[in-house]
Amino acid sequence: MKKYILVIGCYFTATFAIGQQSDSPLNILPAPVKSVRTIGNFKVPKNISIEAPSLVALQPTLQFLKQRLSIPTGFNVLIKNQSSAAPIKLILNKKADPLIGKEGYHLSVTPSTVTLSANEAAGLFYGVQSLVQLLPAAIENSQVASSNLWQIPCVEITDYPRFGWRGLMFDVSRHFFTKQEVKDFIDQMARYKFNLLHWHLTDDEGWRIEIKSLPALTTKGSMRVDKTGYFGTFWPPLPNEPLNYGGFYTQEDIKEVVQYAKDRFVDILPEIDVPGHSLAAIVAYPELSGTAGAENYRVRSGEKIMDWQKEGSFSALVDNTLCPANEKVYTFLDKVFTEVATLFPFEYIHVGGDECAKNFWENNDAVKSLMKQEGLHSMHEVQSYFEKRVGKIINSKGKKIIGWDEILEGGLAENAAVMSWRGEKGGIEAANLKHEVVMSPTTFTYLDFMQGDAIIEPRVYATLRLNKTYEFEPVPLGADPKYIKGGQANIWTEQITNTRHLQYMTWPRAFAVAESVWSPKEKKNWNNFVQRVEQQFKRYDIREINYARSMYDPIFTCTNNNGEPLISLSTEIEGLDIYYSFDNSFPDRFYPKYTSALTPPKDAVQLRTIVYKGNQPIGRMITMPIDEINKRTGIKKPAPPEE
Ligand code: ACM
Repeated sequence: MKKYILVIGCYFTATFAIGQQSDSPLNILPAPVKSVRTIGNFKVPKNISIEAPSLVALQPTLQFLKQRLSIPTGFNVLIKNQSSAAPIKLILNKKADPLIGKEGYHLSVTPSTVTLSANEAAGLFYGVQSLVQLLPAAIENSQVASSNLWQIPCVEITDYPRFGWRGLMFDVSRHFFTKQEVKDFIDQMARYKFNLLHWHLTDDEGWRIEIKSLPALTTKGSMRVDKTGYFGTFWPPLPNEPLNYGGFYTQEDIKEVVQYAKDRFVDILPEIDVPGHSLAAIVAYPELSGTAGAENYRVRSGEKIMDWQKEGSFSALVDNTLCPANEKVYTFLDKVFTEVATLFPFEYIHVGGDECAKNFWENNDAVKSLMKQEGLHSMHEVQSYFEKRVGKIINSKGKKIIGWDEILEGGLAENAAVMSWRGEKGGIEAANLKHEVVMSPTTFTYLDFMQGDAIIEPRVYATLRLNKTYEFEPVPLGADPKYIKGGQANIWTEQITNTRHLQYMTWPRAFAVAESVWSPKEKKNWNNFVQRVEQQFKRYDIREINYARSMYDPIFTCTNNNGEPLISLSTEIEGLDIYYSFDNSFPDRFYPKYTSALTPPKDAVQLRTIVYKGNQPIGRMITMPIDEINKRTGIKKPAPPEE
C-alpha cells in the first residue's frame, strides 16, 4: 500500500509540474463526479468582479462568496448582473442540462476565467462550495490573512449528487441548542452539500417547538432538572428540585431557522416523536396518558426510563407513551400537526414511532377494548393502528408521513416513508413494499456513538469509527434502489451537552456520510478521503470549529494468551507510527515503536501510547490501565502484596 501512495504522490507532483490532466477530487469534499486538473492557476485579482444572475434565491450564496473572497484577502469584490469583462461568472443555464439535474453544476477554471454554471440556484450554491474549497485554507479566515497566494487551480468539474436526500438529524430535546447554534450547524452541514436537517424537536426530555393552541407543551414540557454526569444514570428528580434546564423555539424562531436553512438550500424535516418518547407532552397534558397518576410525572432529566432486556425487547419504567385508545390524543395531534405543517414547507413530517414500550398498553382496558373493536391482534398492530391514524392527520395537512422503521411492524400506513435505523433490514423490507426509504442505520451513521476507544472518548454505549462510517452504502443489498431516497446520519444528544462537543461528535464522521450520499460509489477511496479530511481540519482550525482527531488514535485489540494479556495496536489510517511506554512516563518518538503484539511486563500498571506522523505527534496521549486490559480479556490477576 505504501508503494501505491508513492505512485499517487509522484503522479500529483507530475500533474502540477508539467500540467498533465488527471481526474482527482483535488481537495473537494465530498468528491465530485468528475474533476480534471488542467494547466495553470487562476490568480484572484485585487479587484474582483463577478457576474451573477440577480435571482433572489441566489443572494445569500453571492454574499457568502463575496465574504470569502474579500474578508481574508482584503480585495474588493463587485457583483454585477451583467459584466462581459468579469473574469468570474455564475450562470444559470438557459436550457437545462439533464446530466446535472437540480443540484449539479459545471465549474471551469482557466488561468483567466472562472465559469460556474447550473440549471438552478442550488447548483450554483454547491458549485460555490467547491470553488471555495479549491482556494487555499486561509480563505476561511475571518480577518485579512497575510502572505497568501490567492489562486485557484485550473479545473474542469462536472458534479451532481447521487441522492436527493442528504441529511443530518439533530436532537435538540435531550439537550437544548439555541437558535444560533442550530444556524451554525446548518452553516456547517451546507458546506458539505447536505440538504436536509432532520430536527428532532420533541422527546421525553423536552418539547422544543411552540404550539400556540397547546401552550403547556412549552410552558411545562420544555423544562427539566439540570444534571451533569453520565446521562441515563442520574437520580430521578426530587419534587423540590428546580426545573432549571431547557428551552424552546418560538414560532418566529422556527420561521427564521427555516428561512436560514432555505438560503443554504437545506430543507428542514420536523420530527414530533410519538407515541413513545412522549413524556414531555404528557407532563404538559397528562390526559394524553392511559396510565393513572400521569399528572405526577416530570420531564425526564436523564434518570433511567427504560428497562432494556435484550435487543428488541424492553419495557418502560414510567409510561412515556400517548394512549392509542384515547380520542383526545388524536385531537391533540391534529392541533400539533396543523401548526407544524404551517411552519415547515418541507413535504414530509416525521412522526417518530421508535422504541414505543408496550407494557403499559398491555394492561390498559381502553387499549384492550380498542383491540376488540378494531380486530387488532398484537401490540404491533395497535401501534400500526395509531400510525395509520396519524398518517391520515398528516395527509390532511397536505404532508407526507415518515417514521422510524418500527412503523413497519403491524402494517405500514399508506404512502408512509420509512427511516431505517435498526440496521438495514427495515429499509430493505420497506423498499421492497414499494415505500420510500431513507437509510440511517446505527451500524454506519450513528454519530452519537464513540469514535475511538472508550478509555479516551466520552463514554457512550457503542462505537462507530470514521472508517466504518465511510463504508456507509445507502443502497443496501437486496433493496429495490428505486425507493431509496438517500441517507442521513443521526446525532442524538443524551451525552452531548454543548455545541463544542456537538462539533466533536459530528466532524469528521459527517464528512464520510456526506461523501456516501453525494459522490458516486466508485469515487469513494478511503486513503484519498483521509487526505481531504486533513485539508478540512486545517480549515476547521482557522474557523475554530471543533472536530475529533480520534482517527489518529490507536485501536487496542486485547486477547487472552494463555492467561497473559496480549495487546495488538493498529490505526485506522496508514503511514502512522505508534510509540509506547509501560513505565508510566510519557512516550514520544524516542521510545519503543510498536511493531508487534505486546505482553505487558508482569508488574506494569499502564500502557501509554502516542501516535506520530513522521516526526510530528498527531494522536492523543492515551493511558490504558493494565487492569482495563485484563478486564477486556477476562483475565483475573491477584493484586501484589502490599508493604
Ligand atoms: C432511534 O435511534 N431511537 C431512532
